[in-house]
Amino acid sequence: MVVKVGLLGLGTVGTGTARILLDPLERHPLIQTVAIARVGVRSLDKPRQVTLPDEILTTDLDSIVTDESIQIVVELIGGLEPARSLILKAIAQGKHVVTANKAVIARYGDEIFTAANAAGVYVMLEAAVGGGIPVIQPLKQALGVNRIHAVTGIVNGTTNYILTRMQQEGGDFEPILADAQRLGYAEADPTADVDGLDGADKIAILASLAFGGRIKLSEVYCEGIRRVTAADIAYANRLGFVIKLLAIARRDVCPISNQHLDQLQVRVHPTLVPQGHPLASVNDVFNAILVEGDPIGQVMFFGPGAGSGPTASAVVSDILNVAATLHSNQGPTSVSTAPNPLLACIHQH
Ligand code: NDP
Ligand code: HSE
Repeated sequence: MVVKVGLLGLGTVGTGTARILLDPLERHPLIQTVAIARVGVRSLDKPRQVTLPDEILTTDLDSIVTDESIQIVVELIGGLEPARSLILKAIAQGKHVVTANKAVIARYGDEIFTAANAAGVYVMLEAAVGGGIPVIQPLKQALGVNRIHAVTGIVNGTTNYILTRMQQEGGDFEPILADAQRLGYAEADPTADVDGLDGADKIAILASLAFGGRIKLSEVYCEGIRRVTAADIAYANRLGFVIKLLAIARRDVCPISNQHLDQLQVRVHPTLVPQGHPLASVNDVFNAILVEGDPIGQVMFFGPGAGSGPTASAVVSDILNVAATLHSNQGPTSVSTAPNPLLACIHQH
């Protein structure tokens, strides 16, 4: 059986995804069982960095999510609308969804997962946090037995790239931001990166998984890197620190009773990180997520946090996990057998 995929978006991540799926190298046996059936874009005239038959490209994205032959819809257009409506429509049509869209999941995750559970379909979002780093599935599964105390991450590649270059070269962030945009790291509207909003979306998703409950974005303190100057970075260095934009979700624990002491704090802000700390040496577009819990102690996930190839690696792994389920009619090992593990996790806590 060939599993047909409808790709919404052929930009930075969509192009990387198509490239992997069309690569004649045998990267994974399941890739041969997956076919890109249709691709939705905004403009049919744009030159593309990947070769696809003209007839599968369309600007009518609705016709993709309602196409009966398509089993998996991969949403890579970004933004809130029409992304949210297309995801919901795909689910209503009984299609599985793979998305890299943290903005939609952080705001409409409840609505989307409730709809998906009712329809019995998967919604997969490994690429939404940490680019190519596998962190969503490990947090849900391999670390699921732990009582998590803190998740602390560098979760935005654009700002980490900017801060790293400011540290290495001096200068202000505006020209370096232009490079991050050219390299495909930044959001369509880069204020989401620079002002910490993208980090807030990602830590809200991670905190929902790690601690359970619905984390509202209005409860996430958010401050970006706009006011960080080269002089701040130089002074921090002299004092033995680097400045990183950290996304933090933590619940302090009493050292005697081992009970959580207070409310969950969820925040994103520039932070002085001691030079010897593992997060201090995470540079350029790399991301890292440090998870602290009981009994595991500390675990750190590290890797490329943005960009076409790394993000596409996470998208394709989600596609193949769903395809594996469709082929075997059983839950694949890296996908929970619950229809929607994220929702299951949110409701359990
Ligand atoms: P791009 O802006 O590069 O690509 C967006 C694609 O979607 C384009 O092909 C565009 O069409 C199409 N598109 C956008 N809006 C519409 C619309 N209304 N109707 C039809 N087509 C539309 O975005 P990215 O690939 O960078 O990002 C995609 C998603 O992945 C976002 O949610 C982003 O947050 C997420 N992400 C991105 C990462 C990255 O490193 N870039 C990393 C992790 C996640 P056209 O080409 O014709 O303009
Ligand atoms: N703009 C995002 C970043 C893309 O720079 O991290 C990856 O989610």
